[in-house]
Amino acid sequence: MSDTKILVVDDESKVREHFTEFLKHEGFEVHAAENGEIAINMTRQGLYDVILIDLNMPKVDGMAVLRHLVDHLQESIGIILTGHATIKNAVEAMKIGAYDYLTKPVKMEEVLMVIKRALEFRDLRRENLALKKQLKNKYKFENFIGDSPQMNKVFRVIEKVADTDSTVLILGESGTGKELVARALHYHSSRRDKPLVPVNCGAIPEDLLESELFGHEKGAFTHAIKTRIGRFELADGGTIFLDEVAEMSPHLQVKLLRILQEQEFERLGATKTIRCDVRILAATNKDLDKLVQESAFREDLYYRLKVIPIEIPPLRDRRTDIPLLVHHFLENTSRNKKKKIKGISKDVMRAFMGYDWPGNVRELENIIERMVILTEGTSLTMDDVPEKIARKQVSEQPIKAVIPDEGISLSNAINEYERQLIITALEKAEWVKNRAAKLLNMNRTTLVEKIKKQGIDRVRMAG
Ligand SMILES: Nc1ncnc2c1ncn2[C@@H]1O[C@H](COP(=O)(O)OP(=O)(O)OP(=O)(O)O)[C@@H](O)[C@H]1O
Ligand SMILES: [Mg+2]
Repeated sequence: MSDTKILVVDDESKVREHFTEFLKHEGFEVHAAENGEIAINMTRQGLYDVILIDLNMPKVDGMAVLRHLVDHLQESIGIILTGHATIKNAVEAMKIGAYDYLTKPVKMEEVLMVIKRALEFRDLRRENLALKKQLKNKYKFENFIGDSPQMNKVFRVIEKVADTDSTVLILGESGTGKELVARALHYHSSRRDKPLVPVNCGAIPEDLLESELFGHEKGAFTHAIKTRIGRFELADGGTIFLDEVAEMSPHLQVKLLRILQEQEFERLGATKTIRCDVRILAATNKDLDKLVQESAFREDLYYRLKVIPIEIPPLRDRRTDIPLLVHHFLENTSRNKKKKIKGISKDVMRAFMGYDWPGNVRELENIIERMVILTEGTSLTMDDVPEKIARKQVSEQPIKAVIPDEGISLSNAINEYERQLIITALEKAEWVKNRAAKLLNMNRTTLVEKIKKQGIDRVRMAG
């Protein structure tokens, strides 16, 4: 306890002496101040663990010392002492942030007890802060949900390549989570304290994109009235995320290739070459292979970007993630929208499992949000499900096959139909596998194998 420092602030010398003597005897390092001003100055010189503050002092009073402490000294704990206790003072001091409030005359044993408790409290608070920080650091994966074999594979690759400087090309349909992958990569790398600079190459007009990326010198073109730093320079030491990279013009593709090969570029209108230390991540929902074949994307650039490809499968190909995502979004939106939604009915989950999610996770997120806002109940039921999803519900009648103009993948469709039949049979059999197997006219072992292969999980299905 000898390394615990206490400051006693009281305008009465007798009180100061009494406290100082007692607390020193208890093994603390004790200092004393006779008014608020001196006390505040002393706290600027060194760190005190506990500050005992008399409320009534001339000029700078105890409340002012307490306020200073709360604003500037997060590691110190303030305990108020006063001879003129009123409830009002007590409430005010506690509101400002005093740890406790003692009325004079006070027994020394009581002071000691409060100090010990205060120190314990502070240690706990420290621990909590450390935990919170740890959680915050974990964030990157925490909000990135998925437990399907496909997503687990994605997570493993992210873990492996995050802390390298390798260029990563993130592929996937719109709304599959490409940006989340980019964030996870950056925040799991040692560049995490440096900027992550996203550039949406598809959203910026071509002539602006060049100066946006590389910057320009004053006078480089008509509207260049000031020198401007580009995103590559902004990202120095960190990561740049080139989203919708397929939209880059051939001219910019060449410049990007040079950065990838030589880590250098020039601002527009400049002669000076700038070297940059930037990790490049790129994403696209286009079929780059095809664009390369059509000569719309440079092949050499494609291979440079594709050092590590990460492909996120569409949601319809990893349906076991749907229940997890539903719960995640349900929790998030009910918290954000301050609406207590207890859960989701079984048939809603079934409808979700049967829907194709062309907009992938983003569509699911939006639909949950809409349902939470619009629902009048405390859980989501079929009444809340948008028409297009409700309509897709698996019927036990033979399906009428519809083949769209662009065709289908027969094996995927059969696989999906098999899955729906198994789920329906299991539900009808109340998840007794023997009975479900009978309904499907197959033996139990085959059914168990198929359940495993399809990743069908009763707990998750029940939502
Ligand atoms: N696995 C996931 N877990 C939690 N949230 C996810 C997941 N995947 C996507 N999301 C959420 O879905 C939304 C869309 O994700 P994101 O923006 O990363 O997709 P994208 O692939 O970049 O889409 P686009 O091609 O349209 O830019 C975001 O709100 C994101 O947080
Ligand atoms: Mg995106």
